[in-house]
Amino acid sequence: MDFLGTLTRTHTCGELRASDAGKSVVLLGWVNRRRDHGSLIFLDLRDRYGITQVVMDNELSPVAHAKAEHARPEYVVAAIGKVRLRGKDVINPKMATGEIEVVANELRILNDAKVPPFSPAEEAIANEEVRLKYRYLDLRRPEMQRNLEIRHKVALAVREYLSAQGFFEIETPFMTRSTPEGARDYLVPSRVHPGEFYALPQSPQIFKQILMISGMDRYFQIARCFRDEDLRADRQPEFTQIDLEMTFPQQETVFAVVEGFLKAAFEVTGEQIRAPFPRMTYDEAIRRYGIDKPDLRLPAMVDLTSDFTPELRTALKIEQELPVLGFTVPRVGELSGTARKALTSDIRASLGDSALDVLDIARLRTNDTFAGLADKISEKLSDELKVFDERGLASRDLNVVITPKPGVAAQAKDRLWIYKKVGQLRLDLAKRFQDKHSAFEKKGNADDYKFLWVTDFPFFEWDGQTHTWTFAHHPFTSPHEDDLIAGRMESDPEAVRALAYDIVLNGMELGSGSIRIHRQDVQGQIFRALGMSDEEARLRFGFFLDALQYGTPPHGGIALGLDRIIMILTGATSLREVIAFPKTAKAIDLMADAPSQVSEQQLRELHIRPTKA
Ligand code: AMO
Repeated sequence: MDFLGTLTRTHTCGELRASDAGKSVVLLGWVNRRRDHGSLIFLDLRDRYGITQVVMDNELSPVAHAKAEHARPEYVVAAIGKVRLRGKDVINPKMATGEIEVVANELRILNDAKVPPFSPAEEAIANEEVRLKYRYLDLRRPEMQRNLEIRHKVALAVREYLSAQGFFEIETPFMTRSTPEGARDYLVPSRVHPGEFYALPQSPQIFKQILMISGMDRYFQIARCFRDEDLRADRQPEFTQIDLEMTFPQQETVFAVVEGFLKAAFEVTGEQIRAPFPRMTYDEAIRRYGIDKPDLRLPAMVDLTSDFTPELRTALKIEQELPVLGFTVPRVGELSGTARKALTSDIRASLGDSALDVLDIARLRTNDTFAGLADKISEKLSDELKVFDERGLASRDLNVVITPKPGVAAQAKDRLWIYKKVGQLRLDLAKRFQDKHSAFEKKGNADDYKFLWVTDFPFFEWDGQTHTWTFAHHPFTSPHEDDLIAGRMESDPEAVRALAYDIVLNGMELGSGSIRIHRQDVQGQIFRALGMSDEEARLRFGFFLDALQYGTPPHGGIALGLDRIIMILTGATSLREVIAFPKTAKAIDLMADAPSQVSEQQLRELHIRPTKA
């Protein structure tokens, strides 16, 4: 093995071009590939910036050539030599450095490497567990380096934008009390206070509100949050929020700030987006899309209720009172009779015993009595599709109409359940046929990013298990002042709207926020409405309730998942692709092998006695 000595890098492995021909250079990097052509050995040298081909010629420098015989993939080497233009027939147009090569007169092997379990030179590695265990090798892959570069650039752009808007970045504690965001806490036992625990923050929520009480006016933080919850592709136990809070805002003030930093963040990665983003109330989102995070890249559902007269409903065996909904899955193409039948029974199976049925429009059309209805339905569905002509989707579409079976009205607890059920079906079918249509495909313009603000969420959510109203958001969210004044908290909790909003991108919830309660009496009222006694509220949030009494200004804010933004920007399918050291779906760090057992001594110091599993 050789030493680096006083050698310094003159260029990165992605830097040299034809105009550098003739220069003496020093390149340092990893061996990406090695090709042995007898008297010529080629090493592709790789670093974060790119790959450069280095040639060792036995005739010109036999010592360097001999060294190269020992070099293997992932060895760390220094190549000292001259840049030379490649012959016309060996120019590699796929490589940024493809017009040149470096002819080495000296090669130093700075470190060797075991044969890696997979090669960072490979484009796709199937086994994710191996990638996570050897994350340092995985992170050598250009794709991962690009993802982390985008992440860095976005975070920087957000910081710069928010600083320019007068926001201070302020850190809030990791070791603190529980914050109520709906997940379980990760707890840290205290050695000094036996039997007592800190909780890692699920979000900086309470602290950012206290910063507003402290007169900081505008706060932000690229904040790590910790939640012990069931994991999915878009959920990690530790994740990062772009968290912010402002004094005296209207909803619109928050929206403008978020639109501003997102525009800056997307631009810095070369993506264009259109702002301001459209807005939609929660009620409209559910009625048109059946979900509170609509994917606007697909056509909305169409309400066909009024087309089904009482007579038609009786004839078709459809419930009289409830809505009939249709939707279109674009560009499914021609389906054979068998395929159509199979699909219909699949849809039926997925509707389960939900008392909904699928109506076969093709069959309707063959029957004289219903032919007019079939035409009307098709017309309405294609009207909705016309909105999508700009995206070139409107051809050979699958039309689906879902009807409620008779006698189901009485079963309905949630007045919006049909919309939600059909909305889910709309998404499932779009996914199933996604290889056929281009709704999800990137077009390289602002249409790739369908942002949406969803507003006016309901304040309370009915919990079917405990049969109580629970908060749909964290309990510091303010209700609409109108609903408070009208006394709806008591008279009609279901109708109370929250001053809460979500930002949605392509069907994914990117962020959530609200205007907060700033009055202690209202906060107390909300805790009571949620069934929390004064003592319990004191116990959990006493310090915060105290702070509210000392001149709390109206305030509000939002938090966006940074990891999710990067996931969409990079086109990744899991958050694990955009976090340097993520956890598996079972919350394990495969590389560090965490969580792990600790010594009995440590447990004793922490006053913990484990029970056998
Ligand atoms: P909320 O709980 O909705 O709101 O979280 C805000 C955003 O954080 C991201 N997020 C996650 N990302 C990855 N993994 C997770 N486990 C995870 N959980 C949440 C999502 C989500 O939209 N304090 C409030 C915000 C506020 O009211 O200002 C809060 O945390 O993108």
